[in-house]
Amino acid sequence: MKIFLDSANLPSIKKYNDMGLVDGITTNPTLLSKEKEDPADLMREIVRIVRGPVSLEVVGTKTEEMVEEAHRLMKYGQNVVVKIPMISDGLRAIRQLTLDGIPTNVTLIFSTNQAILAAKAGASYVSPFIGRLDDTGQDGMSLIREVVQIFRNYDFSTEVLVASIRHPLHVIEAGKIGAEVVTLPPEILAKMIMHPLTDKGLTAFLDDWEKLKKEKPNVRI
Ligand code: E4P
Repeated sequence: MKIFLDSANLPSIKKYNDMGLVDGITTNPTLLSKEKEDPADLMREIVRIVRGPVSLEVVGTKTEEMVEEAHRLMKYGQNVVVKIPMISDGLRAIRQLTLDGIPTNVTLIFSTNQAILAAKAGASYVSPFIGRLDDTGQDGMSLIREVVQIFRNYDFSTEVLVASIRHPLHVIEAGKIGAEVVTLPPEILAKMIMHPLTDKGLTAFLDDWEKLKKEKPNVRI
């Protein structure tokens, strides 16, 4: 299972990248708008720091605009993946970009049919947004289950990138289904690292070590 960080926050990206936990990054205009840096500078820096694929999103909605923006975004680095919205013009752009050898991540996928069509157009990744579906009372994880099964049935090379993840259980479920990638906000990754029993256990180990040092001052590890 690959773990991408769903963030444009440089300190978070550096922190988790240094732990070896970041296989790639996904960004979007909302995430960029939350940071103080100029978006172009920020995207360039993220692409430089992270070795894996970095999804950068177009903001045009016409095929020609998306293709032109995609070629511009590719100049940030060889690991750029261009994020294209799941609309008709987007599908045409994916087709063109695939012919141009540019990898794409199709965003805002909310149905199995959309995922199939994005894959058929040549997408490298499809991003079903499961948390936003859960928010409407639909089961986001069922979408992942169906898409993964269909892609497997027909040997599609498109990877399923589980997006809009809201909690650590989403990660476990996505892994059990066999989705190739999960993209996580930094807060979810932090929750996955922590366990109260780990902290409690460590405190007890260190307390016992201190007691031992009092009894035998020369003790060393
Ligand atoms: C994925 O690429 C998107 O950036 C992201 O997962 C959206 O998540 P949200 O629903 O929490 O905004």
